[in-house]
Amino acid sequence: MGNFFPDELIDEIKARNDIVDIISNYIQVKSKGSSHKALCPFHNEKTPSFVINRDKQIFKCFGCGESGDVIGFVMRMENLDFVEAIKLLAQNSNISLEQYDTSDTMKREMVEKHALFELNKKAAVYFYNNLTKQANPALDYLKRRGLTAKTIKSFGLGYAPNNWHDLMHHFLNAGYSIDDLIKCGLVTKDNEKKKQYDRFRNRIMFPIFDVRGNVIGFGGRVLNDALPKYLNSPETSIFNKSNTLYGLNFARRHINDGRLILVEGYMDVIVLHQYGYHNCVAALGTSFTKGHLQLLQKYASEVIICFDGDAAGEKATQRATELLQDTRINVKVLVLEDNMDPDDFIKQKGKFAFEEQLKAAISLIEYKIQTAKNKWPLNTSEGKIQFIKAVVSIIKEIKSPVEREVYVQKIEKDFGVSKNVLLMEIYGKDGKQPVEKNQKYTSKNIRDNKYIEAVPLVEQKGHIIAERQLIKFLLTNPDMIAKIEEKIEPEDFLIGSYRALVEYIFSNYRIASIEPDHISVELPQLKESIKDILDTDIEFIDIAKTLEKYIINLKRYKLLYEQKELQQQQMSLIQNKKLNKEEVEKELLTIGLKIMKINTEIQKLQP
Ligand code: GTP
Ligand code: MN
Repeated sequence: MGNFFPDELIDEIKARNDIVDIISNYIQVKSKGSSHKALCPFHNEKTPSFVINRDKQIFKCFGCGESGDVIGFVMRMENLDFVEAIKLLAQNSNISLEQYDTSDTMKREMVEKHALFELNKKAAVYFYNNLTKQANPALDYLKRRGLTAKTIKSFGLGYAPNNWHDLMHHFLNAGYSIDDLIKCGLVTKDNEKKKQYDRFRNRIMFPIFDVRGNVIGFGGRVLNDALPKYLNSPETSIFNKSNTLYGLNFARRHINDGRLILVEGYMDVIVLHQYGYHNCVAALGTSFTKGHLQLLQKYASEVIICFDGDAAGEKATQRATELLQDTRINVKVLVLEDNMDPDDFIKQKGKFAFEEQLKAAISLIEYKIQTAKNKWPLNTSEGKIQFIKAVVSIIKEIKSPVEREVYVQKIEKDFGVSKNVLLMEIYGKDGKQPVEKNQKYTSKNIRDNKYIEAVPLVEQKGHIIAERQLIKFLLTNPDMIAKIEEKIEPEDFLIGSYRALVEYIFSNYRIASIEPDHISVELPQLKESIKDILDTDIEFIDIAKTLEKYIINLKRYKLLYEQKELQQQQMSLIQNKKLNKEEVEKELLTIGLKIMKINTEIQKLQP
């Protein structure tokens, strides 16, 4: 629905509806200086944990985790959908929405799209039944490739039998028109002979979903080595390949640590999924586009590119890295041995080996250096010269001086190329970094947020849940406390009351009861928090794994917060006009180094 209104209009509406003012219309807000607090309207509480940030124009409740902007607040408070909330706020600030009114055309388009979704869904069910309700070669094929019935069901895989009119007759009988079927791309019209027939014949069918889970098209795979291997639905008003990532509808619920694995094929997504990697997506055979990039940016802070190990895979990797390199996404590359793709690899070598590979995924720069090394043989002088030249141009692209230094050292160590030679090639004769070219940490760049690559705080909600579930686990499994205490500190909890609670638990469990009721008596100020925690549902299927996941989640967020604080220090340095400019730049660099260090620590945390 959001697409009705251009972003500028939404910005304007937000600009004219200050969040503190709007929220004050509904609840009592206590303002002290620049801080604004209230009792959360979305859950029951006695001490305020609902915080409004006027600078950022957002609210957040540290009790229940609810958060959002002014539009989100009004939606939640008034129980409105997005369009209704926009209308209300526009009215409130005298903005006319007349020109944006959802016209009849718009409404008709929506209805039409909805019909296409429905028909596609029915076709998916039809293909699925063909595959699963009777013996057929496609089912044998998929079984041979190791797919379980559960996987086939989750992905809604299907079979288009080897006939020209099966699907067509099925849906004509069900009352659909031939035009509907053509519009959906399920039936093709042969212009010369004026005949219509099923587009997909004797193919394994992969329904393609949008992020919301609507079926927008299909990919159909042959059962043998015939060509084309895959046939896709044509582009329709609901299916646009360059804006679709296969698997994102599943993956988006599993991006707990901001990380997505980008693979090449349908089968890679599906097989990795079967092995427990739910955070995989694929661009549908088309090369990686800006549309894909936008989708990734929306959902991920780190992308591991894991394409096929062949030449085509390498080319696709190059293309994807080019688009990804100047974004805030932390990119890593995983090249599997022996030209394998993830599907082959995990089936042949197992999950453990794949996990090891994931951990060893290299940074974008390292990947580029590797590629250069493979291109130029280091055992000849000519090759070595070309390699150094290639490496120098890679290093020149790095904006951070610190990072450059790191890679220069690494190349010296790994390839025996003298550091001095590299530095001279990079910076000219004296091999020194010119100060004025040290642009990355200039005040302007920091102010414009240009160089700050720190990962944004995504999935806050997930974090709060992690804190709660961990504490609930502690409270309900006192015999495990000693073990967990070795892995985590109260300081790792970011929510004040939770931290206090963990502190209490760790220092008392050996000598006193940590019954929730008992703690509530000892620390009455934590009573509400304890209640919230006990109310959380706990879903520990694989206890060890889940605990590990939550512990890493906490550690990661703590690091991210530290980074945020450092960035704020940088901002206030810049804004302080009284300080000496050179001193400021120096201090900025020092803080910049700390930020990078934390980045490395974050990367070391493995799920
Ligand atoms: P398997 O060969 O069954 O393992 O399939 P795969 O999904 O691993 O395919 P592959 O690695 O060969 O290709 C990657 C992706 O490119 C596929 O998933 C398709 O989306 C796309 N693709 C491959 N071949 C074709 C083709 O012939 N036509 C079209 N339109 N897309 C293709
Ligand atoms: Mn494959």
